[in-house]
Amino acid sequence: MPVSQSDVRLTSHLGDDYLSQALENDVRAGLSSDPKWLPPKWFYDETGSELFSQITRLPEYYPTRRELSILRRHSTDIAADSGADTLVELGSGTSEKTVLLLDALASVGRLRAYTPVDVDAVTLRDAARRLAARYPGTEVHAVCADFERHLALLPKRGRRMVAFLGGTIGNLDPEARAVFLKELRDTLSPGDSFLLGADLVKDTGRLVAAYDDAAGVTAAFNRNVLHVINHRLEADFDPDAFEHVALYDERNDWIEMRLRASRAMTVRIVALDLSVSFEEGEETRTEISAKFRPEGLNGELVAAGFTPGQTYTDPTGDFTLVLAHA
Ligand SMILES: C[S@@+](CC[C@H](N)C(=O)[O-])C[C@H]1O[C@@H](n2cnc3c(N)ncnc32)[C@H](O)[C@@H]1O
Repeated sequence: MPVSQSDVRLTSHLGDDYLSQALENDVRAGLSSDPKWLPPKWFYDETGSELFSQITRLPEYYPTRRELSILRRHSTDIAADSGADTLVELGSGTSEKTVLLLDALASVGRLRAYTPVDVDAVTLRDAARRLAARYPGTEVHAVCADFERHLALLPKRGRRMVAFLGGTIGNLDPEARAVFLKELRDTLSPGDSFLLGADLVKDTGRLVAAYDDAAGVTAAFNRNVLHVINHRLEADFDPDAFEHVALYDERNDWIEMRLRASRAMTVRIVALDLSVSFEEGEETRTEISAKFRPEGLNGELVAAGFTPGQTYTDPTGDFTLVLAHA
C-alpha cells in the first residue's frame, strides 16, 4: 500500500505479518538444520544497518572505499553508457555511494526517478527523504521489499539502471544467485541495464580481516541477528554467549561468518514454540560473502541472459563494477 510522505513515496511489500512469517520460517528452518544457519537479511534492523555503516568506515573493510573510488572516477561514464533516466537500487541501505550515480545522471539532466529498495524500513525511509531533499523534482519512490522475493513488483517506469552495490550479491550462494539474476533479467526491458558491484578474490589475510575487525564492530553486527530474533520472536538468546567467527573457504571462494556457542545451552523461542539446543563450540552460519573472478562473474551474467558491457575495476584489483545490459 503506497503512502506519500512529503516528497517521498513509500511502498512496503514487507508488512508486519509478512515479515514475522518470513523470519519465523527462516529461523525455524535454519535452527532445525544440521549444521545450523540463519540468512543474512535478518542482521538488518535499524541497529544492524547502523553497525553496517560503521563497518564501511573501518580500516580493515576495504570494499566500500574501493567501490567509492571506482564510482568517483567512472560515474559519468556509467551514467552515459546506461542511457538511464531512472535508478533502482537493490539493498540500498544508507544510499551513500549512490549519490555519485545520481549526481552523474542529474548533471546531464536525465534523473527522473530513484527507487531505493531495502528490507530495513527505517534506514530506507531516512535515506529516501535525504535524497528527495537533495534532488528536488526527482521522483523518489522507496520500496521496502525482499530482493529475493519481490523483484517482479518493483516499479517499471522509465529507462532503468538497476544498481546492486556493496558486494551484496556475494551474500547469495551460487544457486540463489542464478535464480536472483534470472528473475532480475526477466523484469528488465530492452535498454535497461544492471550495475553490479562485486568483491574480487584476493589475499586470504586481507579478506578475513575485513570480516573480523580489531574493534569488534563486525562481531557486534554478527550477534545482532540474535537480538533481532530475541526482539521479534520472543527468544532468550544470550548474544554474549556466542563468539564471532570469520573464515575463508577457498574451495567455494567465500567468507563465512559464524556464531560459535561458547557453552552448551538451550534457547527458547516463544513465538515458534521451539527450544533449540547448542553444544559447546557448535557453529551457526550467519553469512556467506562470495568473492569473484571477473570471468566467473561475466559467465553468471550471461547465463542469466544479460550482455556484460564495460567493467570498472579499482587500480588495486580489489573490487569491480560491471555494467550489464538487458
Ligand atoms: C552489505 S549492505 C550494503 C549496503 C549498501 N548497498 C552499500 O553498498 O553500502 C546490504 C544491504 O542490503 C539490504 N538487504 C539485505 N538482504 C536484503 C534482501 N533480501 N532484500 C532487500 N534488501 C536486503 C540490507 O538491509 C543492507 O542495507
